[in-house]
Amino acid sequence: MKTTLTAVRVDLGAVGGHLQPSELLVSSVRASVEEKTDNLLIDCWVNFTGDDITILCTHENGIDSPKIREALWDAFEKGVATAGEQGLYGVGQDIRDTGMTWAAKGLGPALAEMSFAERPNEAFLIFSIDKALPGAFNLPFYLAFVDPMHCPGLILSPRMRQGFRLVIMDVLYKEYDREIELNAPEDIYNMAALLRDQNRYAIRRIESRSTDEQAVASSTTRMSNIAGKIMGKDDPVAIVRIQDAFPAAGEVVAPFQIGPYVGGFMRGCHHGPLMPVPLSTKVSYFDGPPIVSCAAFGLREGRLTPPVDVFEHPMWDHVRTRIADKAVEIRRQGFFGNAMQPFETIQYGGLVNILRDLDERFEIRRIRLTDSWTDS
Ligand code: 13P
Ligand code: MG
Ligand code: MG
Repeated sequence: MKTTLTAVRVDLGAVGGHLQPSELLVSSVRASVEEKTDNLLIDCWVNFTGDDITILCTHENGIDSPKIREALWDAFEKGVATAGEQGLYGVGQDIRDTGMTWAAKGLGPALAEMSFAERPNEAFLIFSIDKALPGAFNLPFYLAFVDPMHCPGLILSPRMRQGFRLVIMDVLYKEYDREIELNAPEDIYNMAALLRDQNRYAIRRIESRSTDEQAVASSTTRMSNIAGKIMGKDDPVAIVRIQDAFPAAGEVVAPFQIGPYVGGFMRGCHHGPLMPVPLSTKVSYFDGPPIVSCAAFGLREGRLTPPVDVFEHPMWDHVRTRIADKAVEIRRQGFFGNAMQPFETIQYGGLVNILRDLDERFEIRRIRLTDSWTDS
């Protein structure tokens, strides 16, 4: 029998705008999910990162299970009721308008799922990101699975020598899932050519080429595509299996020390460095900076060990100080240049309206040919 991991990240409302869900909101969602471990689920874990709640469930219903979606939806609704009673900001932000269409693949709150026959010592990580897009995982996952400078296992472990297959999704394509499979090492330049564009392409899945087993499942939803209008920012979640034929935990988390600039900072319109933080960390500075948490788990017959909080370590305090400097530095240039996201991805109608109004006030002044210096 295969075990399925379903990881969901959802914003049901927060205190202080978009800073952190209330304790009561998190505990009401947790109670609702835990109640389902009596029959449907084997185990679960509920936590938060910034204003997003991450739910991890283990079960035997496989991926895309309507029963699991319904159970999660029930937990979201309980959370929305609590958030409403407390007057939280943005109540039901990620489930408004999507309704139960979420039951269909690729719609609604960020979802990563993976089904596999458990290894005798199964080990995996759950990453949750707030204030960024699914493409925020592109650089760290590329470096962890493709680059021997970051993943020595590629040269040290015979089980990793054949490399990895990356499935990359075109998240701007609206109708269906548009994906490409690329193999490392032969396709690494092609991978880089796509993954450089975090707004358009996102890693959806990574598989071992030696064992064909799935290592990574990442959420690739863009809610602005689903709803036809802007609603939340699709802050992503990812499941990463580690060790054996996969990179070690340390190899997967190491590239996060870079703190790459990602889109999604302040009102979803700015670039900011992705800061690795302990579990249950809020956002603050310019509603950010963008943050990523990581929980490591062991698994046996669907039962989870308590998580290890991977970025809660003195090494990452040092990294955070440097990344905080990067955040301050880019915010010093305010609206200018690369501090803001490109116009096409800006989520606020206000800017669109300003530019449209100003466009009408532009005048075209033609140069008279007689004034040209070439005439003299
Ligand atoms: P969330 O998408 O995390 O709700 O953040 C909204 C935002 O941009 C706050 O500045
Ligand atoms: Mg929010
Ligand atoms: Mg969020």
